[in-house]
Amino acid sequence: MKILTTLLELRSARRTLPGPVGFVPTMGYLHAGHISLVQAARAECASVAASIFVNPTQFGPNEDLARYPRDLPRDLALLEAAGVDLVWTPKVEGMYPSGFQTWVEVEGLTRPLEGGTRPGHFRGVTTVVAKLFNAVGPDKAYFGQKDAQQAAVVRRMTKDLDFPIEIVVCPTLREADGLAMSSRNTFLNPEERQAATVLFLALSAAKSAYDSGEHAAEKLRALVREAVNAEPLARLQYVSCADYDTLEELEAVRGKSLLSMAAYVGKTRLIDNFVIG
Ligand code: PAF
Repeated sequence: MKILTTLLELRSARRTLPGPVGFVPTMGYLHAGHISLVQAARAECASVAASIFVNPTQFGPNEDLARYPRDLPRDLALLEAAGVDLVWTPKVEGMYPSGFQTWVEVEGLTRPLEGGTRPGHFRGVTTVVAKLFNAVGPDKAYFGQKDAQQAAVVRRMTKDLDFPIEIVVCPTLREADGLAMSSRNTFLNPEERQAATVLFLALSAAKSAYDSGEHAAEKLRALVREAVNAEPLARLQYVSCADYDTLEELEAVRGKSLLSMAAYVGKTRLIDNFVIG
């Protein structure tokens, strides 16, 4: 596995990779969810590239950039064991040299949900993903369904800017008790870790109501609110029942829809979602 830091090194190594090339962008501190993206890429592509870059521009001023967990040696060992051919680990000053002032911004899709509570977040994501796509030049790129809005926004950007890249969205991987895997789960103390299952339980309650015939979106949102309010360590930030493609809030679930939420458990902000309809 080649490990590269500069754009020049990356470009020359990229030329030697047989295509199609699958790409898994990450911010490191990898878990089984990331490895499942690598496995999907491995199954579909002749070569697999990954990146590890904790992107400062997608963190707000009061967010957890400084304490975002990092363990590069462990990440590299996991990627090598999963069969990655090339890893790019750019430096912040390489990605954002002094004088940097060009941004990629998707408009409507980034306004609700995560965009409503994390101003500027998606501008940072789309800018860095566009730079990563330009640098790596993959045929396919792999994202997790857990960040459903991110996947929708990246899909839109890829289409709008004519990147010749297929965006593949892979299922959310969960712990045995249903908690969606996330690098941020490591911030939870044992009590919070137990309380954090409330996200999965709340979404499951709404999904089983939907499966039993409840299609009113507000009823489904109310079930999520009720479940989270019953957990003293959790504080709901938003719950949404929206059209899967446009992310517009629904009155009733008719077609493919996204039931999504963000909640604080202690000081840790977690997100999760289910696709229904
Ligand atoms: O999902 C992530 O880990 C990040 O948002 C991404 C796509 C690697 C961009 O920094």
